[in-house]
Amino acid sequence: MQSLVSGIQPSGTPTIGHLLGTVRNWAYFQEKYKCIFFIADLHAITMPQDAVALNDSSLKLMAFFLAAGVDPKKCLMPIQSQVPQHAEFCWILSCFAYIGELSRMTQFKDKAQSASSKAEPFGLFAYPVLMAADILLHEADFVAVGADQKQHIELARNLVNRFNLKYGEILKMPEPIIPEFGARVMSLQDPTKKMSKSDSNFQNFISVEDDPGTITKKIKRAVTDSEGIVAYDPSRPGIANLVEIYSAVGGMSVNAVTDQYTGIGYGQFKLDLADLLIETLSPIQSEMLKLLEDKAHLKHLMREQSEKVIAKTEPFLRKIKDLIGFV
Ligand code: AQP
Repeated sequence: MQSLVSGIQPSGTPTIGHLLGTVRNWAYFQEKYKCIFFIADLHAITMPQDAVALNDSSLKLMAFFLAAGVDPKKCLMPIQSQVPQHAEFCWILSCFAYIGELSRMTQFKDKAQSASSKAEPFGLFAYPVLMAADILLHEADFVAVGADQKQHIELARNLVNRFNLKYGEILKMPEPIIPEFGARVMSLQDPTKKMSKSDSNFQNFISVEDDPGTITKKIKRAVTDSEGIVAYDPSRPGIANLVEIYSAVGGMSVNAVTDQYTGIGYGQFKLDLADLLIETLSPIQSEMLKLLEDKAHLKHLMREQSEKVIAKTEPFLRKIKDLIGFV
């Protein structure tokens, strides 16, 4: 059976971007592949995090994965910081990565801009190498990601070629799996940038925890334009983003969505979209609430899953170390 890896950083509450960009397919993937869905807390600290909030967000993320249908009996669900092999392999791979290629990563450039000037953390720069380690450590055939991560996967693939050129066919070449719709959900107030959970403006994103009233308000206020025609046109990014969200949540093509709203203005379209989102999120929200009542269970699950991953990855890492010449 082929294997698949995917993860999310607990840098806040996940948004509909995470759900549509990747998590909504995980329950299906776990039937088809050997899956590892992990909480990327080592990635989260590449930007400043409050300790209590990081802890809470990690538990919430575990609850979100489970509520979205991920079954720990069918796949592995570790938390990255409890599996030291991720950081260890990251160090090895960082000795194969070039400063020039890492400097070209758009996520680094974007986030470095928002970090205080001249104080960009080195971890932020090394982020794609850790991501490569996450994927290659598990010998993954596939990586389920949103479109924004394509460049990082390309880097992981380059590292495979470089490493294998020196040591033989050791590392497996991963392929990205990016959904056709919902792969890049954009900010509601600034549709030229990606929707992000750590955005300081709450109006920019819909979190998977938002209540029906908040969802409706945020969608109603979402930036569109003065044309008033529901269309999928990249030169009109606000309405295009809403149409794409509708298409991903409603399981329809963008053309079917725009056809359905021919001659109908933005008002009704936005109300229907809000209802669709409320309907989609409501079962996930009630399940998350239930799961979060027993945090001890969630922590136990993380520990149990992480230990399984340690046992699974250690022999592979030992093989790498032997090849390198580590005693
Ligand atoms: N807006 C999005 N649209 C589609 N897919 C998305 N993903 C994230 N945002 C969107 C996908 O979710 C996976 C993991 O994301 P992450 O949280 O680990 O990292 P991120 O992409 O940096 O997400 P955020 O919300 O922007 O985090 P912060 O605010 O902390 O920087 C990836 O597969 C990603 O493509």
